[in-house]
Amino acid sequence: MDNRDDMYGLDAAIIMNPRVWQASGHVDTFTDPLVECEKCKRRFRADHLEDKEKCPECGGKLSAPRQFNMMFKTQVGAVEDSSGTAYLRPETAQGIFVNFKNIIDSFHPKLPFGIGQIGKAFRNEITPRDFIFRTREFEQMEIEYFFKSSDWEKHFESWRLEVWSFLKDLGFTEREVSELHVPAEDLAHYSKKTIDFEFNFPFGKSELLGMAYRTDYDLSQHMKESGIDLSYLDEETKEKFVPHVIEPSFGVDRLVLAILTHAYTEDEMGGEVRTYLKLPYVLAPVKVAVFPLLKNKPELVEKARGVYSQIKVQIPQAMWDDNGNIGKRYRRQDEIGTPFCVTVDFDTLEDDTVTLRDRDSGTQERVKISDLVSRIK
Ligand code: GAP
Repeated sequence: MDNRDDMYGLDAAIIMNPRVWQASGHVDTFTDPLVECEKCKRRFRADHLEDKEKCPECGGKLSAPRQFNMMFKTQVGAVEDSSGTAYLRPETAQGIFVNFKNIIDSFHPKLPFGIGQIGKAFRNEITPRDFIFRTREFEQMEIEYFFKSSDWEKHFESWRLEVWSFLKDLGFTEREVSELHVPAEDLAHYSKKTIDFEFNFPFGKSELLGMAYRTDYDLSQHMKESGIDLSYLDEETKEKFVPHVIEPSFGVDRLVLAILTHAYTEDEMGGEVRTYLKLPYVLAPVKVAVFPLLKNKPELVEKARGVYSQIKVQIPQAMWDDNGNIGKRYRRQDEIGTPFCVTVDFDTLEDDTVTLRDRDSGTQERVKISDLVSRIK
């Protein structure tokens, strides 16, 4: 977003006017087919069951599927009746559509341009599962990219390639991620074409993120419901029209799960099985850990503190650790994916060099303190 001149960011509300969700179609169509066990009363997603007749928990008879709206309801205002019913947003996207006019009026962007947002979304999932793969509260990063309808195929292809380039920056290849072109009968109510990018999770291949051509569905619906003109005037051609939109929609939690799954590695080091996270440097939460060889030698601790402070100015994700012995510190940092460890020892006091240890190979080399940051970054 920050590197492009055609993108604008915003931070919309989680609880919006409920009419937003009527206009978007979510009140009527954002549903999952559910069945209920007549014996134990548990509910299941009908489309997740192999045997549609029998309860997978107690063997009881299952009801016919019923549509269950996945939006979380809440009550706003002083009076507790249906006029106060509101919803927690089930996607961040609608916050972008209802703020479209604010962006147009404030920045006067030229088509094509995009609006992006990151934030929480909420869904009353009946079967949250697989660690953070499906949860009721999750983080989305969504972009709505607006253009003239005749250009949709060009933009769809260009965003498909952008998504791949983002995934490759995270370290994924075609071995882990594949495209599923969603069949027409399974498309969401707003979509004319959708690609799901699927990841090979340990529990099977499942949706990581989605990319949809939402046409002018959302803006047109909000125009109809609000009576506000959301069309765009092309200053050059004097044409006035409702822009169409492509939406790359990223689930942050699923990306984190995919990254952890992909980075988890076991090898052998020093005759023992070692577990570590092979995170790319850019994704590692701690980039470098700094240790004094011994924590009961004040001169070593003081020198190591100095090295740590010096590194932290330029690499804020540096960490101090003086617990346990060096071997244990290395293992702990390996497990959280820290790419480098720096040890300050007695030689450091003499010659201003430290030991720099590489996470993946375990190799250690002497490096001058003044060269550390450029070696790590
Ligand atoms: N605005 C379009 C939209 O919301 P979606 O396919 O329903 O489309 C987009 O959701 C992404 O949000 C998914 O690809 C997934 O990464 C993430 N997501 C959806 N439901 C989720 C849940 N219950 N838990 C975690 N992530 C979820």
